[in-house]
Amino acid sequence: MGFVGGMFKIIDTKRLNSQIVSWEVESGEITRHAKPGQFIVLRIDETGERIPLTIYDMDKTKKTISLIFQEVGKSTHKMGRLTTGDSILDLIGPLGHATDTRNFGSVLCVGGGVGSAPLFPIVRALIESGNDVTVVLGFKTADLIILEDRFKELFTRAGKEPKVFVTTDDGSNGTKGLVTDVMKKLMQTQKFDRGFAIGPLIMMKFAVAVFNSFGVPAIVSLNTVMVDGTGMCGGCRCTVGGQTRFVCVDGPEFEGAQVNFDELLARQNRYHRHEQHAMDLHKEHVCRLDR
Ligand code: FES
Repeated sequence: MGFVGGMFKIIDTKRLNSQIVSWEVESGEITRHAKPGQFIVLRIDETGERIPLTIYDMDKTKKTISLIFQEVGKSTHKMGRLTTGDSILDLIGPLGHATDTRNFGSVLCVGGGVGSAPLFPIVRALIESGNDVTVVLGFKTADLIILEDRFKELFTRAGKEPKVFVTTDDGSNGTKGLVTDVMKKLMQTQKFDRGFAIGPLIMMKFAVAVFNSFGVPAIVSLNTVMVDGTGMCGGCRCTVGGQTRFVCVDGPEFEGAQVNFDELLARQNRYHRHEQHAMDLHKEHVCRLDR
């Protein structure tokens, strides 16, 4: 593990679109140890909740990590208001197991929305290992697309033709429809040896079903609610292969075919109601301040 506690300066912030923000954060020793697939848990201040975020990129010379997050709840909206030069209170990591990025042969990597960010370092490592990689990225609309050019750069830097397919739900960019539509088309004409899917639970559930139907083993990366990040609180539990596992210490990656997605989706819906309540209180609070 790198750091536990301390103040960590945000040295760059970028708003990638109306919902998604990227940060480059001073992270000291975390940079030295982090590998693709691993994550950190951060807390912006004493009252902030602990937010797990996968490390999207890092600069070992500057000792910084890059993080991408979507403003979906009270805490992430608060994070979105921090700017370059601000600091966050805690940064713990790297946590979780690193991704197995050996040479599998032909690999299909699927990212959904902000899940494209944790997929990025994995694709980079898979290309570096000599895999024949194809990437499918899915977004709701064109204005929510992130990292498409950066994924393409990974291929061109390696002297390969970019194989990056984008889908949008409304067809405003790329292929209209879901990532699973493009996956099926690709898998009908090419044999893949390994799959990766990272994104919303519902997307991973259906992506895994497609991989299964073509007999391709697939890895998913789970991003559950976390409290302590140490395997003690049980907040991030999930059922994998009929066994209770903890995303923070056993994951975040699991064999997709073994994950009980329905259980995770039911729990996510329960948390969503609480989050909505917190957001409503937060909005009220902001309104009073503005008067
Ligand atoms: S966050 Fe507490 S067990 Fe994983």
